[in-house]
Amino acid sequence: MNILAVESSCDETSVAIVKDGKEVLSHVVLSQIDIHKVFGGVVPEIASRNHVVHMTRVFEEAINQSGLTIDDIDLVAVTQGPGLIGSLLVGINAATTFAFAHQKKIIGVNHLIGHIYAANIEHEIKFPALALLVSGGHTELLYIKDHMDIKMLGTTLDDAVGEAYDKVARTLGLSYPGGPVIDKLAVLGTETYTLPRSYLDKEAFNFSFSGLKSAVINLVHNANQRNEEIRVNDMCKSFQESVLDVLVDKTKHAAETFDVKQVILAGGVAANKGLRQRIKQEIKGKEILIPSMEYCTDNAAMIGAAAYFQFLKEGAHPNYLLGGLSTIPFEMYHKDDK
Ligand code: KG4
Ligand code: ZN
Repeated sequence: MNILAVESSCDETSVAIVKDGKEVLSHVVLSQIDIHKVFGGVVPEIASRNHVVHMTRVFEEAINQSGLTIDDIDLVAVTQGPGLIGSLLVGINAATTFAFAHQKKIIGVNHLIGHIYAANIEHEIKFPALALLVSGGHTELLYIKDHMDIKMLGTTLDDAVGEAYDKVARTLGLSYPGGPVIDKLAVLGTETYTLPRSYLDKEAFNFSFSGLKSAVINLVHNANQRNEEIRVNDMCKSFQESVLDVLVDKTKHAAETFDVKQVILAGGVAANKGLRQRIKQEIKGKEILIPSMEYCTDNAAMIGAAAYFQFLKEGAHPNYLLGGLSTIPFEMYHKDDK
């Protein structure tokens, strides 16, 4: 089954064609990062306008690269949310128009489920699995019982981890997005600043990163007032270690508690080299699935992979948008779910 997938929830315009939830026949990602960099973050209106400008060309390139004809496409899939409303609507309009014009079925896919299924492209998800979903907007630990049967074990009570990276980077005068820059500089630094680790209840799986972010901001402000230099590399290392200690400990604890076969790392922050390394080193006896970098950050291939399993389970509903733009799709785990 050849699925043409569209992703435009934030600042990447992406179209991919994926066969049977696994084989990527073509994959085009047009990143707007350079456009938004000067503003220190994504400007929603500018993102939507750039999606409008580039969407048709990205569609054409994905179809050309795949070597398929439009007749070979069996299903259209599009990110239905969560994301920036204007950005989402550009992708949804393009996908719906394409499907209507060529008489194809269409389904809406949740962006977060897409991030998880990125792991199925180069590997095969086996159940039960645990996913640590870490991105600019989300920090979730998820228990995956079967295809499309996902329950939430914990989430952030305040900032998402990627958001904390981006805000700390801005405080340190580093460029946007902050995650990749901090990740790179952390390797050059030493953990010399004392920063908090927010474990909350050690047995539970919720996260909190706003206290850590405030601690960095306070240290930087205090240093500025005393005319002292901040050692940026050391601060990056100290911040990254605080984040990773909590993420890795809680993921390890959940993997053992729920006796999962696999641990999946998903979302933009899964591109973090330190996180990838520590998850592999510290979680023993479980298969660790980490998508390669191109499938960690926002991309349409992951939407195409998720769409296949969603279609097998639910089919395509002609009025899929009547459900509205989807947000967080996961219910909390209950002990009877196991
Ligand atoms: O999944 P994604 O591309 O978009 C969202 O759905 O949010 O994630 C973007 C986030 C940004 O906050 C960015 O700073 C972070 O992922 N990120 C990283 C790294 N690469 C991207 N965070 C830490 N280390 C990285 N290497
Ligand atoms: Zn994302």
